[in-house]
Amino acid sequence: MRRILIAGNWKMNVIDNILPVARAAEENRVDVAVFPPFVYLERIINELKGSKVVVGAQNMHHQESGPYTGETSPKFLLEMNVKHVIIGHSERRHVFKESDEEISLKMKKALSLNMNPILCVGETESERLSNKHKSSVENQLKIGLGGIENNLKNIIIAYEPVWAIGTGNTATPNDAEEMHSFIREQISYIFGRNVASEMIVLYGGSVNEENVKDLLRKDNIDGALVGGASLKGDKFAKIIEIGGKTNI
Ligand code: 13P
Repeated sequence: MRRILIAGNWKMNVIDNILPVARAAEENRVDVAVFPPFVYLERIINELKGSKVVVGAQNMHHQESGPYTGETSPKFLLEMNVKHVIIGHSERRHVFKESDEEISLKMKKALSLNMNPILCVGETESERLSNKHKSSVENQLKIGLGGIENNLKNIIIAYEPVWAIGTGNTATPNDAEEMHSFIREQISYIFGRNVASEMIVLYGGSVNEENVKDLLRKDNIDGALVGGASLKGDKFAKIIEIGGKTNI
């Protein structure tokens, strides 16, 4: 049985008020995670002490130490007990030019340390318009998950079509479901049916309290990775509440 996960990726921002989020996580049968910027991790961990909200990181380096100015070691995250980490977000891929190969190294490192990586995949607008969305996502999954043998249960996938991120253009529930079902099929080719049927696949891209319900109703959509709408505590709490209702 897959449980709904509502996750907030704050990007280079901070939430206005975390309290409603902690309360909603307490009151609803749903998993909740937030991903603050690195420098705020410790503060948010402290503010959420005793709550059910998991605090994760937005990125990490694939090495544990070395001459990598500006980078963050997975070991530093583990020292703070941060185990969830977003890998290969579209902004990392497209703005910071992270390659599939780099993302694969990060996935392998995270899993070797028994962390919980959230691998983001998604096509660009031009790939969708030229009917290459499936092959693009297939390729990202093949490279991102290739060669991985351990801790498969720790892996979470987030399908985030690049054209839907920060644009207000959410994928329709049917289009999203089509891709989620395709992704699950690809996971089953890579890891087998059992692993695929248990793996959480989140949708991300302009999710808000109005559209989340219809997305979560779909069979293969197991939660949401929310950007903009996770920055207002009240709004994000509402999304968590809707997630809890869908879970039952
Ligand atoms: P928005 O919800 O702001 O579109 O961002 C989605 C996202 O990138 C989450 O990782």
